[in-house]
Amino acid sequence: MAESDSRNENTNEQVKLVRFFMGAKLLGQTRLVTGDTIVDHAELAGVYIPTNCTSGRCGTCLVTPLTDTIALPDVLPPGLDDFTIEEGGRLGCISKPTTDCDIDIRPPL
Ligand code: FES
Repeated sequence: MAESDSRNENTNEQVKLVRFFMGAKLLGQTRLVTGDTIVDHAELAGVYIPTNCTSGRCGTCLVTPLTDTIALPDVLPPGLDDFTIEEGGRLGCISKPTTDCDIDIRPPL
């Protein structure tokens, strides 16, 4: 591979980011790590999201994604109900970003 081809490959590679906010204030950001949860990404970014059960049962880690890129689990865990979902809430301990996303660390309610 020619040097210029290699350089083009590097510049074309898109770095996907998970960014954390409190309102409009950027608290931190980190590269997307496929398979890691929002809470895992927050730790990498130096941002604290409180947790308790870390299994989707208690709702302590409730956050508000600002981008619509966090998929819901097929079966809702006890820590998440339809009203919270409608308000935009997701559980940081079980939600796994798959692409760029912005997260407000505050719950939606
Ligand atoms: S820490 Fe309990 S639901 Fe996330």
